[in-house]
Amino acid sequence: MTGLINSRLQEALIALKATQQYRQLPNLQHNGPYVISEGKTLLNITSNDYLGLGGDTELQNEFLNQIRLLSAAQTPKMSATSSRLLTGSDAQLQALESELQEWYQTAVDKQDTSVSKSVLVLNSGYHANLGILPALTALPVKTLILADKLVHASIIDGLRLSQSKLVTYRRYRHNDYEHLATFIKQANPDIERIIVVTESIFSMDGDRADLCQLVQLKAKDARIELYVDEAHAIGVLGDTGLGLAEETQTLANIDYLVGTFGKAFASVGAYIMCDDIVKQWLINTMRPLIFSTALPPINHAWTRFILAKMPTLNDQRAHLAQLSTKLSRAIVQRHRVSPTIQYPNYESPIVPYILGDNASTLAKAQQLQAAGFYAMPIRPPTVPANTARIRLVMNAKLTNKDCEQLIRQL
Ligand SMILES: Cc1ncc(COP(=O)(O)O)c(C=O)c1O
Repeated sequence: MTGLINSRLQEALIALKATQQYRQLPNLQHNGPYVISEGKTLLNITSNDYLGLGGDTELQNEFLNQIRLLSAAQTPKMSATSSRLLTGSDAQLQALESELQEWYQTAVDKQDTSVSKSVLVLNSGYHANLGILPALTALPVKTLILADKLVHASIIDGLRLSQSKLVTYRRYRHNDYEHLATFIKQANPDIERIIVVTESIFSMDGDRADLCQLVQLKAKDARIELYVDEAHAIGVLGDTGLGLAEETQTLANIDYLVGTFGKAFASVGAYIMCDDIVKQWLINTMRPLIFSTALPPINHAWTRFILAKMPTLNDQRAHLAQLSTKLSRAIVQRHRVSPTIQYPNYESPIVPYILGDNASTLAKAQQLQAAGFYAMPIRPPTVPANTARIRLVMNAKLTNKDCEQLIRQL
């Protein structure tokens, strides 16, 4: 690297520091629901481990004990050593896909519909969102993509890579379906396909898309397909944990249903539930699937172990809902500008505490840390300008007392 580049990098990093946007990797140890940071034990209210399974050592031991009983030949390997198209598609991965398919089918059957989907497992939610849209739009079909303004960075990167001349995309105002409907109305008649993209629970605001309304919109125009990223709803919502689409009985109407394993599943990886022909197309064209080593079989074995438990975790989901509602109501009450403001219903375990500017958000995070909570500031560009916040996250292992102590610190 030249001296010029080095000094330019230094200047740019100093500029980030001046605007409180400089990021550093924290040095942490984990201990159940706690993290140990700089020698201090803090309650973790930052991670996406919504069901608290990631810090559950008993659960981990149960899994490891099962693995120890296997013969050497049966023990899942620690690396896939190549992409899925070469040797990476092992027995664990195939079993995981068919169990996910069963999970979907059982939920969809309860909703009295006869739709069936195939499942494709991918390396991460980032890989999924980065690769699916460019693959879908590689077809020579005139396509309009309409995405919610607040969709995750991975979806935005996927949009940016959907560069065919036949593709245009626009962003509608967050959860504003009138705005979305206006874009649909304005779409040229020669547009052959309209893909509407949303998250079901939004990662930074914790609010929900109205999937029923989106399904109604879809029913009005045969060109519309729905792409829903359930990263933050999987494991958290729905009778068996299959997400907001399960809870709202919209599973059968969603064309591309994406979920991830790095959050409530306390694992790693992602999946798409879609028509089998779409799965075959993705296998043939989706670059992050084709050009990346598959996840290790041992990870898939752990994901299967968690998946088997997912439908049985309704008590944990109910406790999580109760804690999250308590916290979000306390925040609304604290900041109530008018006594007539309604208390929010349960949206999700993500409860944003929006302070606006970077400096007060950093100060609040430090105050919460001093009080024993591992809370982290989230600043632009991760969130829009002037909406810096502490993203408070509840998990099913927290107690009511933990939640009340946190509320006192806000
Ligand atoms: C909505 C959403 N989709 C996808 C991802 C990426 O998932 P992964 O962490 O599995 O790459 C995230 C990550 O936080 C997310 O919030």
